[in-house]
Order: sequence, then structure tokens, then C-alpha cells
Amino acid sequence: MAISKLRIHRVRNLSALSLVPSPAINLIYGENGSGKTSVLEAIHLLGLARSFRTSQARHLIQAEQSDCVVYAEVDPLNQGEQKPLGVERLLEGDPRIRFAGKDIDLSTLAELIPLQVINADTFQLLEGSPAHRRQFLDWGVFHADPMFIQLWRGFRRVLKQRNSLLKCGKIDPRLREVWDREFVSFANALTEHRRDYLARLIPVFDQSLEHLLPGIRIELGFQSGWDSKRGLDEVLATSFERDLALGYTASGPQRADLRVKADGHSAAERLSRGQKKLVVSALKLAQGNLFQAMHKRPCVYLIDDLPSELDQQHNQLFCSLLEQSGNQCFITCVDHRALLEHWRPETAIATFHIADGALVKATGPAG
Ligand SMILES: Nc1ncnc2c1ncn2[C@@H]1O[C@H](COP(=O)(O)OP(=O)(O)OP(=O)(O)O)[C@@H](O)[C@H]1O
Ligand SMILES: [Mg+2]
Repeated sequence: MAISKLRIHRVRNLSALSLVPSPAINLIYGENGSGKTSVLEAIHLLGLARSFRTSQARHLIQAEQSDCVVYAEVDPLNQGEQKPLGVERLLEGDPRIRFAGKDIDLSTLAELIPLQVINADTFQLLEGSPAHRRQFLDWGVFHADPMFIQLWRGFRRVLKQRNSLLKCGKIDPRLREVWDREFVSFANALTEHRRDYLARLIPVFDQSLEHLLPGIRIELGFQSGWDSKRGLDEVLATSFERDLALGYTASGPQRADLRVKADGHSAAERLSRGQKKLVVSALKLAQGNLFQAMHKRPCVYLIDDLPSELDQQHNQLFCSLLEQSGNQCFITCVDHRALLEHWRPETAIATFHIADGALVKATGPAG
């Protein structure tokens, strides 16, 4: 079980809010502007020390306040023991993260609380730039392999170095050879990890999609970021003059993409809004299911306005996949009656009615 007790202080319109979540399904409902998305923001802060909407802490921190804090009791590694976790953000500076009485860093936090968000921005997985899809893939690779973060940091360092040399406009050939060798070595390792992860994800994704959107053939394809029929060393050598003119490295894993096709066409162009929501949700659900299969522990899902874009039948299908997944889900909706009937009687559901940033009524998992 992931998060058991939750206390939120000074996050957007939530001055002080305490919740005792269910380990399974949590429905957070209330009128527009009541604070539902802010609860999800607070849980996101707890899991990643930042907002999912803004890079600036001042938008997350309540107006006129200088910090926000989220505390929880968590048992992220399923050890049967709840431990305190606290994340604080000030207007300036790095977040302060304490777990079980010790300061921890961001990547340790991200490893402890595997978070998945499904909200209006998730459409960017189909409609947005490749950066969104790389971030999606890298979430999976990060959680699949503890070595990945080192590899990723190493690659970013070499890429930055190569680009700053290119910007100077003149590179000593011997220096170039050294950096290119490093670049290719990191790039190939990174790409192999991404490719392997996607190969494991595809069958799990197909299963989720089969439930949510039968009848449409969705294909996922990996693009490494360079002409993969040729070695990256050869690509770098032949495009060197072009890179020099551009002032940056045009080929490599920093350009990787995940192609999503629906019945042979671009999914972004082909699918309806509701169908897109089902495809991106299936992608996110597949990541959580694969994570569970690998680590034998659940993820935390933050699903903002689950019913939007979906008809009753697809709401029902989505809810049944969520409850089967065994993940801890925080789901917001304006009218909870739209979702209440979709669960099996044995599923532990907690409901939280929010108004003006405060809890009006809660019913625990048994209620
Ligand atoms: N930094 C802030 N300080 C105080 N209040 C804020 C801050 N940022 C946003 N708010 C307010 O918090 C309230 C809750 O916003 P939130 O996005 O959580 O609403 P919501 O319940 O998700 O609404 P909707 O159903 O429209 O999505 C809004 O009135 C918003 O204007
Ligand atoms: Mg909202």
C-alpha cells in the first residue's frame, strides 16, 4: 500500500486539509474551483516535489504564503510499516524532502512513489512534441532499471559538452573524436534500454487497449533519433558540418520518438477525442501494470476529471481496469454519481467531497 495518511498545507486553495485515503480507489468530488485538482497537485508534490502544471513554485504555494508542505504516511516498498514522508517547497530554492527521518534526493523520492498522471495534458502523448513521448518512455526505463538515471545523466552531460563545442564553431579533431566516442557509447546504451522497455510494454498495452478500445489497431513504434540503418558514429561523422552550422547535435537519442499509429495512420490525426483519451490512458495503465509485474508494488494514479470525454460505457471500462490494476488511484470528478456505480462491492472506495478548499464530507474505504 502506498499513501495512507495525507496532510496538505498551503497548496493553492487548500490551507490545511487532511485525508485518510483508501489503498484502492479515492473519489474526490466537488464543484468547479473547489480544490480537486489542487489535491492531485499536492500528491504530485509528495511524489515528485513539483507541480504537474507549473515549473514555478509560487503558483503551487497558496497566495500570500511563503511555503507549502505535504506530509504522508507511506509504505512504498510494501514492507508492512508506515513511514513518514514530507515534502516542502519554498518560493525559492530546492525542495526539502524527508523520508523516515532522513533527507532524501529527488530521484530517491521518484523511485519511492511511482506516480502516473492522467489529465488533459496527457493528450500531449499523441498530439504534442516527441519530448512528451520520450518522457513517457523514460519514466518506464527509470523505474525498470536503477542504472538508467546514471546513464541518462551521463548522456545529458556529453550532449551538453558536444553542443557547447559546436557553438564555438571550431573543434580540435582529436577532442571531437573523444566526445563523439563518449556520445555514441552513452547513446547506444540509452537507446537499447528504451527499445527493451518498449518491447516489454507493448504486449501489456495491447491487453489494456483490448479492454478499452477493441476494434482499433494501435501500433507503437520506436524511433531511435537517427537513421538506425547506419551506426550513430557514421551519422555523426557525415552530419558534422551540418551540426557545426546548426550549433547543436541534430541526431541522437535526444531526438528519439514513440510513433503511435491507429489503423496505419497517425493516431493524433485519426482518433476522436474520446478514443485519444482511451489510448493515452491505456498507455499509462500499461506502464503501471508492467511496473507492478516487475516490482510487486503498486503505483499511485492521479486522474483528473476521469469522466470527461468518455461515455458511460467507456467510463465503466476505464474504472474496471483501474480497480483490477490494484494501484492506488486518486480520481477527481465534478459529480461523483457519474462514477459511484462502476465499482465492485468488494473494492475499497473512499469518497471526499471538497468545497472551497476544505473537506465537507468523507466516507472511508468501508463506506
Ligand atoms: N496559488 C493559489 N493560491 C490560492 N488559490 C489558488 C492558487 N492557485 C489556484 N487557486 C485557486 O484554487 C481553486 C481550486 O482550484 P482547482 O484547480 O483545484 O479547482 P478544481 O476543483 O479542480 O476545479 P475544476 O472542476 O474547475 O477543475 C481555484 O479557485 C483557483 O483559482
Ligand atoms: Mg480541476
